[in-house]
Amino acid sequence: MLVAPSILAADFLHLERDVQLVNDHADIFHLDIMDGTFVPNISFGFPVVEAIAAKAQKPMDVHLMIVEPWKYAERFAKAGASMISFHYEAALDRSRELIGNIQSMGVKAGIVINPDCPVKNIFPLLDVADFVLIMSVFAGFGGQKFIPESLDRIKAVSARIRQIGRDIPIEVDGGIGPDNAGAVADAGASILVAGSSVFKAPDPVQAIQFMKNARR
Ligand code: DX5
Ligand code: ZN
Repeated sequence: MLVAPSILAADFLHLERDVQLVNDHADIFHLDIMDGTFVPNISFGFPVVEAIAAKAQKPMDVHLMIVEPWKYAERFAKAGASMISFHYEAALDRSRELIGNIQSMGVKAGIVINPDCPVKNIFPLLDVADFVLIMSVFAGFGGQKFIPESLDRIKAVSARIRQIGRDIPIEVDGGIGPDNAGAVADAGASILVAGSSVFKAPDPVQAIQFMKNARR
């Protein structure tokens, strides 16, 4: 299992320390970009991503929670992202083209869905996407409670991916911690995003290790 700590929950006054924690113990930097329009919250932008890029020894995974994601994908690619995902709800008919554009920048392209978006909406994109990000809370805020129905959605997407003969990773994001990592892994996830359960834990290294060992 790969663990992707969400920097949204890091201590911004000790960001270098938290970046080093990911370098030393986790697998991927998960960077949440919120625009105050697609979601009712604003996170951080290019200066923070570039500062992390200068110290990151693990791949950077940029999760765009913004309207018109095609306007900014290239800048995040130039800032050093190895993975960029955008919401299907924000791109709709332009999703396939945007996946191709992201890939042409040498970056892995992921499609994200919120908990109220039927999984079948993204089935037509599974032949081209490099990964899928299934939200297990509504995008916009860290520290929310995992929505249990997400497990069936992960299973459905996982089954469809196998059905079409592909083997792309499913990333799951929102309310994940040592208590539910096993169930999320069993459902078919292979990348676990975790914000609060890592950075607010008394022992972040132990929390990461536990999730890395979740079955699958
Ligand atoms: C929510 C973000 C998540 C968030 C996860 O919109 O996409 O990545 O930071 O935080 P936790 O793990 O605290 O739910
Ligand atoms: Zn995220």
